[in-house]
Amino acid sequence: MDKGPGGSVVLIGFMGSGKSTMGIRLSYQLRYALEDTDKLIEARAGKSISEIFAQEGEEAFRQMETELLEKLAKKKGQRIYSVGGGTPVRAVNRPLLKKLGTVVYLRARPETVYERLKDDTARPLLQGQDPLGKIRRMMAEREEAYTETADVVLDVDGLTADQWVERIAGCIGL
Ligand code: S3P
Repeated sequence: MDKGPGGSVVLIGFMGSGKSTMGIRLSYQLRYALEDTDKLIEARAGKSISEIFAQEGEEAFRQMETELLEKLAKKKGQRIYSVGGGTPVRAVNRPLLKKLGTVVYLRARPETVYERLKDDTARPLLQGQDPLGKIRRMMAEREEAYTETADVVLDVDGLTADQWVERIAGCIGL
């Protein structure tokens, strides 16, 4: 069973909202396999996301994301999916994400994301001047894509890791 009670969970949300970290934790606690699309793309390409952006461009990366989602949508079984922050922005990806399982939007405040990522060099889209301003703008632009894709919105600021797990597990009736 992929969608619904006891089914798979798809974590979406902005960079630094905790998708990868929570994906690992949920996978461990629920004993579900984990599919982290950024990591799968890096492994398949044999290079980092930053290298893909620099050498092949963002559009090539976006195409890799869509192709990977198409492949994952054919797999069966209970999984935790953690996808890149930009994945729901491409309209064609939204039905694919919904097909994978119950989509949970991890919504964090821009300031929280900034604090988490201010020294991070692995997010090509947040490099350069005024990263907090960029985070605010990009989040506002993406909000509709996130909420449209999500079955559930989880405001994550102030929650402990255990509370996250409990709420997300609750989204699939566990
Ligand atoms: C991106 C988010 C990144 C990664 C790439 C682009 C985005 O993933 O896919 O750098 O467009 O928001 P995380 O959300 O895991 O940082």
